[in-house]
Amino acid sequence: GRHGDLAGRRVIVTAGGTQEPIDPVRYVGNRSSGKMGYNLAVEARDRGAHVILVSGPVALPPPFGVEMHLVETAMQMRDAVSDFITDADALIMSAAVADFRPTRVAEQKIKKLRTEATGQHREDEFSIDLVANPDILGELALALKGGHAGEQHTGISIPQLKRRLIRVGFAAETEHLVEHAQAKLQRKQLDLLVANDVSRTDSGFGTDTNKVLIFHADGAMEDLPVMPKTGVAAAIWDRVVPLLG
Ligand code: C5P
Repeated sequence: GRHGDLAGRRVIVTAGGTQEPIDPVRYVGNRSSGKMGYNLAVEARDRGAHVILVSGPVALPPPFGVEMHLVETAMQMRDAVSDFITDADALIMSAAVADFRPTRVAEQKIKKLRTEATGQHREDEFSIDLVANPDILGELALALKGGHAGEQHTGISIPQLKRRLIRVGFAAETEHLVEHAQAKLQRKQLDLLVANDVSRTDSGFGTDTNKVLIFHADGAMEDLPVMPKTGVAAAIWDRVVPLLG
């Protein structure tokens, strides 16, 4: 049975989307609801784990019996993951981390009217410069390989991992799902990668069901049927448990 198979384990789950501020009232965000991550957190709790849930802003209530850490930005999420990674057994990154953030955050609300010598006029175009966010799973893969002098600096420092850390990533793809998923698993050196086709109406952002493919580090691929996100969460932990040392 699954009951208690995560007893004594410490797991980190990230959930929701990050919000990257543009000015005091606006942000760059995405459609992640947080449902998949919150289901993963609740399932791990029910199986006996100590769960740290690092969540972006979502419309879901905080689950009972889970250690919550609310964040807004990718940088804050990276710092939170970094803080708890040393004695974690598993990290499941189901969060939709923004790949880019505005280069500058305006101190005041950006106005649509600009005053010029000739009087006020409305600008027809407006653009925001973006800069890349750190790739949390990517940095972790680098840090675990051992950052030697001269190698690319990563923001995640791992003094000494207590045990082997199982890492699970998610991929939301609209095309070339298998190729993109396999490349992502390789690049981020993951144990498992869960891929969903967000172009389907029964899968992905905001839905209560999900249709996923699970890619394993040894190249194996499983095509799971459409299931409630609770069932997908159970299926993921079923595959993480045997990997735990
Ligand atoms: O590269 P891509 O964003 O598609 O990868 C998705 C996976 O990587 C997810 O598990 C997501 O949580 C994680 N990710 C991350 N840091 C980022 C972007 C994504 O850890 N900056």
